[in-house]
Amino acid sequence: MAYNLLKGKRGIIFGALDANSIAWKTAERIHEEGGKFVLTNAPIALRMGTISELAEKTNSQIIPADATSMMDLENLVDKAVEILGGKIDFVLHSIGMSVNVRRGNPYTHQDYNFTKTGWDVSALSFHRTMSVLYNKDAVSEWGSIVGLTYMAAQRVFPDYNDMADNKAYLESVARSFGYFFGRDKKVRVNTVSQSPTPTTAGSGVKGFDGFLAYADKMSPLGNATALECADYIVTLFSDLTKKVTLQNLFHDGGFSNMGVSTAIMEDFMKNNAPEETVAEKVKKERKK
Ligand SMILES: NC(=O)c1ccc[n+]([C@@H]2O[C@H](COP(=O)([O-])OP(=O)(O)OC[C@H]3O[C@@H](n4cnc5c(N)ncnc54)[C@H](O)[C@@H]3O)[C@@H](O)[C@H]2O)c1
Repeated sequence: MAYNLLKGKRGIIFGALDANSIAWKTAERIHEEGGKFVLTNAPIALRMGTISELAEKTNSQIIPADATSMMDLENLVDKAVEILGGKIDFVLHSIGMSVNVRRGNPYTHQDYNFTKTGWDVSALSFHRTMSVLYNKDAVSEWGSIVGLTYMAAQRVFPDYNDMADNKAYLESVARSFGYFFGRDKKVRVNTVSQSPTPTTAGSGVKGFDGFLAYADKMSPLGNATALECADYIVTLFSDLTKKVTLQNLFHDGGFSNMGVSTAIMEDFMKNNAPEETVAEKVKKERKK
């Protein structure tokens, strides 16, 4: 269902690689809601992915930009303003990549050159993007900037590896830059902390199937899908959330506030049931 929530709004969408990408689904939903945008991705991803299909479908142009290059980002913002015919109202940063994860290096045995590259791509790129937008005064008043993140920024998920640290940095940048963007330009900045989602970036994490199934069983509403994430981002780009800023917003079916669910407990006890329950032991003691 469409509500025309983004009619007349202009934006930049980073990170649509293929139809599974959170950014891809978001672009489709924004298009349905009347928003227009330019799509961008790293030049190599443009060659590998299928983004031209999305551009055609949503009547949008693609501007290549490596999010670690200030020159590319400056060119992107200038071109986006020119193509869309005015300042930008919304920006989606949907970028993540760890070379250590890709190469199978565990957290305890990192190649620090890979660590630096992963941090630059996944976290510093958010600062770079906001810095270019801020210094060019390219975002309209009451504009909205969203970055995607994961709960490993707060809690331990061993196989999420150095991406956990990158996400913690990304969330901090959202708050720090969000302050200046809010104070000086009336622009809001938030991160959305999404459930595990079957995409190219997600499935690169070791043991991803376990991640996905566990989170689904733990969450009272089940995992949030990429399309549901897109819906949520649409609300954050709309005028209905003007005073939401500096927040890390969990979009995870309730996972982040759970301790244990009955489904997880039942599964766990299938393999770990003691010969005698605590209740039985207490009863026995009392009889003595
Ligand atoms: N999939 C999940 O389980 C999950 C959960 C929570 C948060 N996230 C986050 O959502 C965001 C989107 O990921 P996704 O799951 O849709 O996967 P995806 O693989 O579809 O998207 C990741 C994107 O990052 C882009 N990218 C990589 N290096 C880049 C560079 N140098 N410059 C510009 N773009 C570059 C890729 O080309 C790709 O389009 C990421 O920030 C990811 O960490 C994903």
